Amino acid sequence: MTSNAGENRRTVLTGAAALVGASALEAALSPTMGQVGASVAIPYGVAVQEDLLNADPRYLAAVKSNCQMIVAEGAMKMGGIQPQRGKFAFQGGDNLVAFAHANGMQIRGHTLVWYAANPEWVKEISTPLEAERELVRHIEGVVSHFKGRIKSWDVVNEPIAEEPAHNRDLRRSVWLQHLGPRYLEIALRTAAAVDPGLQLVINEFNIETNDKVQRRRRDTILTLLRDLKQKGVPLGALGFQGHLHGHLPIDKDAVSQLVADVKALGLDVLVTELDVIDNQLAADPAQRDVAIASRVSDFLGAIAAAARPTAVLTWGITDRYTWVPMYFKRADGSRNRPLPLDAEYVRKPMMRVVQDFCRSGA
Ligand code: XIL
Repeated sequence: MTSNAGENRRTVLTGAAALVGASALEAALSPTMGQVGASVAIPYGVAVQEDLLNADPRYLAAVKSNCQMIVAEGAMKMGGIQPQRGKFAFQGGDNLVAFAHANGMQIRGHTLVWYAANPEWVKEISTPLEAERELVRHIEGVVSHFKGRIKSWDVVNEPIAEEPAHNRDLRRSVWLQHLGPRYLEIALRTAAAVDPGLQLVINEFNIETNDKVQRRRRDTILTLLRDLKQKGVPLGALGFQGHLHGHLPIDKDAVSQLVADVKALGLDVLVTELDVIDNQLAADPAQRDVAIASRVSDFLGAIAAAARPTAVLTWGITDRYTWVPMYFKRADGSRNRPLPLDAEYVRKPMMRVVQDFCRSGA
């Protein structure tokens, strides 16, 4: 968030109504999706950084003209939304909700509980009782604030261990440390009690290839979902983050099987953070883009073979702004190309794949 974020937020709000109509810039950027938004089978959305809506007109136009949904890339994480104990900071999230609604889009919430992006003060938590009290207070505060405006929340993000040693191995976090695995149940029950109509999502990554660790991660996430359902814990969907590794083929049968198993539990699936990590793909941009689009096509196709996802969201819209180089920089120094538009907002094959998929629903 920039230091003049307050100023920027005001601009979003005052500018929102004026920006509903199509500008010439938008028309140029948006050959299709803006016009067919209402008729898509699956809403397509992107993670949005609020400050960029003000700072970059091309970003604003691209989001408005291509999407039916947004999700907050950072504004609703615990560190941002409850920076001090008991003191909520909803402005950034509210601005995104206002932007979404002014433009006829839905907005998802990300994320109520995570091991990362937490405020410093959670490190002071020292007993299970205190942890439960703070977890409940956080979820009640955030979900009730956005009630009726946000209908789908990533309640728990990335709950399973990075490399699970067994199929109930959960990721270390302040919540697991103090509460054990029941932190998931507490979180889900609390969110459902505040807003029974919510789509409650557990969100995970690295569950789509034949890699040994990813095979174990599929087993672990499915075991977790089964355990929760067996206990009667409210839960709506598994979110496939979909941070695909460009050099690893999608295990299409395994993905379809996982989706079928999840559906058999009475749960939906959705794609929450799609992008393609391209640090190990060919240097040539055109070649890379084809490989990326093909991974995305395999992934979405494998999901749809078992069930229609309730939404597909990419983790950003343009290669200009992406988290990928924070962890997966290319050795040749060239820019990562994980997203549907390139750094100059030119549509790449990935956009066609995603939008065709969302239009037809298969
Ligand atoms: C990332 C954001 O994109 C970055 O801007 C931020 O600095 C760190 O977090 N999985 C998630 C997301 O669930 O919340 C992460 O978002 C990317 C990986």
